[in-house]
Order: sequence, then structure tokens, then C-alpha cells
Amino acid sequence: MSMNTVGITEDEYKTISGFVYDKFGIKLGDQKKTLIIERLQKILRIGGFANFKQYFDYIISEPTGEAILTFIDKVSTHHTFFFRENDHFEYMSNHALPYLVNKYKRSGEAVDIRIWCAGCSSGEEPYSVAMCVNEFIETNRLKPTDISILATDISVASLEKASSAIYQAPSLAHVPPLYRQKYFSAPASDGNFCVKPFLRDRILFRRLNLMREDYPFSGRFDIIFCRNVMIYFDAPTRSSLIGRYHRYTKEEGYLFIGHSESISRSTLIYKYIKPAVYQKA
Ligand SMILES: C[S@@+](CC[C@H](N)C(=O)[O-])C[C@H]1O[C@@H](n2cnc3c(N)ncnc32)[C@H](O)[C@@H]1O
Repeated sequence: MSMNTVGITEDEYKTISGFVYDKFGIKLGDQKKTLIIERLQKILRIGGFANFKQYFDYIISEPTGEAILTFIDKVSTHHTFFFRENDHFEYMSNHALPYLVNKYKRSGEAVDIRIWCAGCSSGEEPYSVAMCVNEFIETNRLKPTDISILATDISVASLEKASSAIYQAPSLAHVPPLYRQKYFSAPASDGNFCVKPFLRDRILFRRLNLMREDYPFSGRFDIIFCRNVMIYFDAPTRSSLIGRYHRYTKEEGYLFIGHSESISRSTLIYKYIKPAVYQKA
């Protein structure tokens, strides 16, 4: 750290990490201290805050709530890329979607598959879902409105990037060449790719804190993706979140979690299908 870096005291770190845990469920252990100091340094400098206490007092009293949003944008991790953990997308296309369409047909109901990407970051995950869904719709002669996609995150900056739908080449590394042609416009002079509007318009992006007790949804979901989000939560937070997801999953609906995440067997209310894939029994 440079000479000009503002350090953090034990008390300040305890206050800030306690606040992040209570409000957002994110556990900041001592090993994250240096990272947090680095991530907040620029804000402290630009805002002219002499120390972390001054900064924290400001964010919790600032009336619009904007300062808290900027703070959580900086503190949380947004790393993501297209077709991350690709076997989930293959499983969704080859098993989950056909199973769900059949379920609707068996019961005589119109197909109305609702997918939710919870913790979607800057949009690479829901756009990957949307590409697979579009392929599935075309192959199975469904209507685009038969399958809808909601994508939520706590981070306003990430959601703005998701809505802008503009991405740099490295994040497209795992997009199959055919999909790149079909779903992205040719790179602009700055080398960036843009998701074509017809695909972008298939996704509804909304801000949502997953720590809320109830979610403002009118219906339940057939598929929930919550990948690489719970990794930052502790066990009690994870298990109450899984309980909420269960409430918002339709019968026989699916839950996809990150491959490095796990649901403890004692709190497992979904049926285990395969690593990181669960179904509501
Ligand atoms: C590492 S990204 C994962 C993105 C994507 N799901 C993936 O697997 O590539 C984690 C995201 O979870 C979001 N997040 C963390 N805590 C949250 C909360 N309490 N409510 C909503 N989103 C949250 C962060 O803002 C971040 O964008």
C-alpha cells in the first residue's frame, strides 16, 4: 500500500463488515481487509474523507441511499463471463427445458416458463441463458413469450452495464462462433461487441436485494440460477436464502447454484439431481 493509503482500524473494519453482513448477507472475513481498503480508497480520496469512520457515518446518513449503493458496488465481487460453467446451460437446454415443456403439455396448461437469474452481475449469465432459450424456442417452435427471463442484482453499476449490453472481446471467449454471429452485432471501432436488441429485450433487469424476506414477484419460477453469489454468504444466510428460493420455485422447478457452492444436506429441501443442479420434488 502507498504512503497516501488511508488505513482502517479494527473498530472501523468491525463496523463496516457487520453492516455489510446485516444488510447484504455478505461475510467479510479478516482476510478481505486489504481488498476492502483498496476497493474503497478512491472513494475516500475523491470524497475527501480522512478515515473510514467518517466515510461510514456519511453513507449511513446520506438521505438518498445512493452512497450505500456505490459502497456495495465497490465492496462486492462482480466477476462473470458468458457461458460460465457451461454444463448448466447444456443441462438446461437438453433436460430442464424439455422436461418443463412436457410438464405444461401433460397438464394441459399453456407453456409459461419463467427463469430468474438472481445475482446476475453485468448480464453475461442471463444473456447466455437467453441465447440457449432462443435456440430452444426455434427448435421446438415455441413462441418467444412462452419463456421469460428476469435478471436481478443489488449492484446498480452492474445492472447498467447489463442493460447497455456492450461487452469487451475477452468476456465472449466461450461464446460459440455461431452464437457470436447470430446474437452480437459486429464489433464497433473500439472492439466492443453489443448484444442484438431482439435478445436484449427478452430480459427484464431489476434491482433486488436477495436479503429481503419477501420478493416482489407475482408468480413463482420454473428455473432459478443463483451461481457464485452464495459463496460470499455464511451457512445460516445461505440456508435461509435457499428456503426463500424454494418458496418461489414452482413444483418440479430447478435451482442451479455455482459448482464451488454447496447446500448442506441437513437443509436440503430440493432434490439433488447432479452437482450444482437441484429440483423441487
Ligand atoms: C460473482 S457475481 C456472480 C455473477 C453470475 N451469477 C455468475 O455466476 O457469473 C455475484 C453477484 O452477486 C451480487 N450480490 C451479492 N450480494 C447480493 C445481494 N444481497 N442481493 C443481490 N445481489 C447480490 C453481486 O452484486 C454480484 O454482481
